[in-house]
Amino acid sequence: MKTTATASRQRTSVRSSRSQRTQGQAYGGNGHEKEHNGHPSVSPGLAAWLAKPKHNLIAGKWVSAANGKTFDVLNPADGSVIAHVPDSQSEDINRAVTAARKAFESGPWRQLTPSERGKIIWRIGDLILKNAEELAELESVDNGKPRAVAKVADVPLAADLFHYMAGWATKIEGNTIPISVPYAPGARFHAFTTREPVGVVGQIIPWNFPLLMVAWKLGPALATGNCVVLKPAEQTPLSALRFGELLLEAGVPEGVVNIVTGFGETAGAALAAHDGVDKIAFTGSTEVGKIIVRAAAGNLKKVSLELGGKSPNILFKDVPDLNAAIDGAASAIFFNHGQCCCAGSRLLVEKDIFDDVVSGVAERAKKIKLGPGLDAGTEMGPLVSEEQLNRVTRYMNQGKQDGACFVTGGSRQGDQGYFVQPTVITDTDPSMSIVREEIFGPVVVAQPFTKPEEMLPAANNSEYGLAAAVWTKDIAKAHRIAAELRAGTVWINCYNIFDAALPFGGYKQSGWGREMGHEVLNQYTQTKAVVIGL
Ligand code: NAI
Ligand code: MG
Repeated sequence: MKTTATASRQRTSVRSSRSQRTQGQAYGGNGHEKEHNGHPSVSPGLAAWLAKPKHNLIAGKWVSAANGKTFDVLNPADGSVIAHVPDSQSEDINRAVTAARKAFESGPWRQLTPSERGKIIWRIGDLILKNAEELAELESVDNGKPRAVAKVADVPLAADLFHYMAGWATKIEGNTIPISVPYAPGARFHAFTTREPVGVVGQIIPWNFPLLMVAWKLGPALATGNCVVLKPAEQTPLSALRFGELLLEAGVPEGVVNIVTGFGETAGAALAAHDGVDKIAFTGSTEVGKIIVRAAAGNLKKVSLELGGKSPNILFKDVPDLNAAIDGAASAIFFNHGQCCCAGSRLLVEKDIFDDVVSGVAERAKKIKLGPGLDAGTEMGPLVSEEQLNRVTRYMNQGKQDGACFVTGGSRQGDQGYFVQPTVITDTDPSMSIVREEIFGPVVVAQPFTKPEEMLPAANNSEYGLAAAVWTKDIAKAHRIAAELRAGTVWINCYNIFDAALPFGGYKQSGWGREMGHEVLNQYTQTKAVVIGL
C-alpha cells in the first residue's frame, strides 16, 4: 500500500497544480482554535472532521481506494494540506457502478413509493440547513470562497434544490394518448406513457460551487428514482464526502448514491467510459465536455453537459439606476471570484455612459477586500488552485501583450495562496483571447457601443451561449434584445438570479440540456409507451 506522501509525489510528476504546495500541516482535531499561517483556523468540530481519514462511499460503506492511494486536498488561501482523499482509479469506479446497478435493480429504492422517496429527499434539504455552519466553513476552506458567502448562497441554494425536487418525486407522470393506427381499421387500443428512471447515472462535477453542484446533480436524479456514482472535482472533494454522511443520515438506501474521489483523467474518464453507466451528467470545461461525449459513445449513454461561458452584460444609457447597474456589472463578474460559468465577463456599454460605468466598476474592484475565506471581513477569496491562478494570470499577460488597457488590477495579489486582483480591461478587439475565451477569474473586458444593431452581433459573437443580461428601462427594447440573444438565460435589470424552479443551461458550446426546474426531469427519465389491444 502506497502512502499519501508517495501518492502525492507521484502525482506531482503528472500534474503540477495542486501538488506544488507550501508544506503545510493537516488540520489536527486537537479541539482548540489555532492560528494557521496567521489566519483564523477552522472550528474545532470541523478540524476533528478533517482529521478523520477520508474514504469513498460505495454500497453504503466508507472504503479506501482499491490501491490504497490518496492525494492531498489543499486550502487555496495558503496552500496548506487540509485532508487526504482516495485517489480512485477505474477499479473503484467499477465497484461503485456495480453497487449502483445492484441498488437500482434489486435494492429497496425501486420499492419505495414516490411519496417515501420524496420524504427522504426533503430530509436531505433539512439536513443541509441543520449543518449549514459546518458546510459553509468546509466549503470556504476547501474552495477558498468567503464563509459568509457560502452561508447565504451555496448552502441555502443547495437545501432549496432538494426541497424543490422532493415535491417532484410524486409528480413524474405520463399521458394517455388516443391512437388511430391506420393499418388496423376497426381495432381498438388503450395507449399510455410512463416515465421511468434512466438507471445508473455517472455525475462529474466541478470545484466552483462544490456543494451546490452536488445538489443540482443529485436532486433530480433521486427525485426520478435513479442510482448514482458521483465524482467531485479533485480540487474540492470534501463537501461531497460530508454530504455522503448526510445522505445516509437522511435514509438514502445503500448503493443509491456512491461517491468516489479522484482525478478527471483517471476516475472521471473511467466513469464517462463505463459500459455499466446509462447516463453521464457533467459540469465543467467545454474541452472536457467534448472528451465526455467521445467517451460516452462506447455504449451510447445519454449525456447532459453544463459547460463554459463568456456572457455579455449589456448596459444601455437608459439603465433604470446607473449606480445599481454598476453594482450589478461588478457583482456579475466578481461574484465567486469570477469562477462562474455564467460570469458577466464581457461588458457592453452604450457609449454615453461607458466612462462612468468603467470607472464605477473599477472603483468597486479596488475596494474589494481580498483575504482567506475564513476571515470575517473577506469579500473575495483566492482562486481555487495554482492551476487556475496560472491560467488567469496567463490570460492577463496575453491581454497586456495584445495592447489592451488595464484600468485596474492585472496581477496576482501577494505571494501566498492563489489570490488575483479584481481586474477591469478596456481597449480590446474581438480577436483577443481575453475577449473570446473563458478566463474564469475576476477579469472583465469592457467595450462601448453606439447602436443596438452593432451591439447584438458583438454580444452573440461567441462560441458560448450560457447567459446574458440587459440593463434598460425601455421594456420593449429589453424584450427585443432578450429574444435576439443566443443564451440559455437572459437577465433583465439583474444578474446571477438562480432558482431551483428555473431551468439553467447553455446554447451553442455551453452545453446540452438544462439543469433545475421541471425541465431537468427529462434528462433523468425515459419515456415508455404502452399499448393495450382491447
Ligand atoms: P475540468 O473540466 O477539467 O474539470 C471539471 C470536472 O471534470 C472535474 O471533476 C474533473 O475531475 C473532471 N474531468 C477532467 N478531465 C476529465 C476527463 N478526461 N474525463 C472525465 N472527467 C474529467 O475543468 P478544470 O480543468 O478544473 O478548469 C478549467 C476550466 O474549465 C476553467 O478555467 C473554466 O474555464 C472551466 N470550468 C467551467 C466550469 C463550469 O461551471 N462550467 C467549472 C469548472 C471549470
Ligand atoms: Mg481540467
